[in-house]
Amino acid sequence: MAFKEYLMIPGPTPVPARVLTAMGRQMINHRGPSFSSIIKEIVEGVQWAYQTKNDIIVLTTSGTGGMESSIVNFLSPGDRVLSLNIGAFGNRFAKIAKAYGADVDEVKFERGKAVDLKTVEQKLSADKDKKIKAVLVQQNETSTGVLNDIKSIAELVHKHGALIIVDAVSGLLTAPLKVDEWGLDVVVSGSQKAFMVPPGLAFVSVNKKAWAAHENAKMPRFYFDFKAAMKFAEIGETPWTPAVSIVFGMQEAIRMLKEEGLDNIFARHEKMAKAVRAGLRALGLKLLVEDDKIASRAVTPVFPPEGIEADKLRKVVREKYGVVLAGGQEDLKGKLFRIGHLGYIDKLELLAALAALEIELGTGVKKGAGVAAAEEVLA
Ligand SMILES: Cc1ncc(COP(=O)(O)O)c(C=O)c1O
Repeated sequence: MAFKEYLMIPGPTPVPARVLTAMGRQMINHRGPSFSSIIKEIVEGVQWAYQTKNDIIVLTTSGTGGMESSIVNFLSPGDRVLSLNIGAFGNRFAKIAKAYGADVDEVKFERGKAVDLKTVEQKLSADKDKKIKAVLVQQNETSTGVLNDIKSIAELVHKHGALIIVDAVSGLLTAPLKVDEWGLDVVVSGSQKAFMVPPGLAFVSVNKKAWAAHENAKMPRFYFDFKAAMKFAEIGETPWTPAVSIVFGMQEAIRMLKEEGLDNIFARHEKMAKAVRAGLRALGLKLLVEDDKIASRAVTPVFPPEGIEADKLRKVVREKYGVVLAGGQEDLKGKLFRIGHLGYIDKLELLAALAALEIELGTGVKKGAGVAAAEEVLA
C-alpha cells in the first residue's frame, strides 16, 4: 500500500494549502458586505483569467451545470445548433441542447483530432437562411486530450453570425483564451480545474451579443436564469445561497494565480504537457494525440503497451505507488488511461507518475528513460 496519494486526474486537481486554509473559515452572511466584496474580487479575477470585460455569472454548480446554463439562457426550443464534437464533452453539450428541444446538427470528428476548420466553414456557409443560432465547442476536450483552435473557429462563426458558446472547463488557464479579442460570446469554466479549487462553482461570461439573444431565448430555466443572476450580481450577491466555502477558496486561488501571472501559468501548463509527452514517448508508449500542436496542456491520454490492460495498470500504480490516473471515457473506456497535469499538479509529481509507470511497465526500455526525457524538458 502507498502512503501518499498523487492525484493526477484532469480535475478535480489537488488544492493548495492556502486555498484549503481559506475554505476553513466560519460562514458569513451571503447577503452582507464582506461577501459582496469577495464576489467582486472573484468576478474581476475570472475576467482576468478570461481576458475579458464581459459580465461574469457565478453559479453554484459543476461544469455541466455551467454548460446547461449556457444553453438554456440563449436558445429556444427548435433552434438549430451546430455541435462540434471531438469527444465525450462534445457529446454532453449536444445531449444538453437536445434535452431542451434544440435541433442539434452534431458533427463528430475522429477521436484524437481537433475540429476541422474546413468542415465548419462548409457547414456554416451552407446555412444560407441562417438557421444555425449557436455553435457549441470545447476549448479543450478532456476525454481525448485535444486543444481546439478556438480563435479560428470563432472567426468562421462570426462570418456566419451565430453565437459561439465555448466550454472552457478544462482548458481555461492551461492555454490562452482571449475572450474579448476573439469575440467569444459565451464561455463556461469551473472551479475544480486550473483554478485549483474544489468542485462547486461555475463561471460563465456573457457578451452583448449573447445578452441580446437572451432577450428572445425561450428555453425553460429557473435556477440558472441569468437575468436573476445579473440582478443580484449588481449588488455583489447571487440569487440563491452559494457554496460559501468554495467562494472563500476561489478568492485565495485567484490571488495565488495573479501572483504567478497569466503568461507564467500558460508556460507552466505547456511545459508540463511537453514533459509528460516526452516521458511517455521515451517509454515507447503510443499517445492518442500524436500531433504536438493540438495536444492538450491539461491531460494526456496514452495507450498501455500491448498485452497490458489500461485499467489494471491504473490499479497497480494506484495501489503500489499512490499515483491516481484517470481512465478512458465512453468509447475509449478500457482502451487507454489519462494523466492529468493541470492546476495544482507539479513537476515532481509528474516525474513520480512517470517513474511509477516505468517501474511497472517493463516496455523493454532502460529504466529511467521516461523520467530522463521529461527532465530534459523541465530543466
Ligand atoms: C471539457 C469539460 N467540460 C465539462 C466538464 C463537466 O464538468 P463537471 O464534471 O464539473 O460537471 C468537464 C469535466 O471534466 C470537462 O472536462
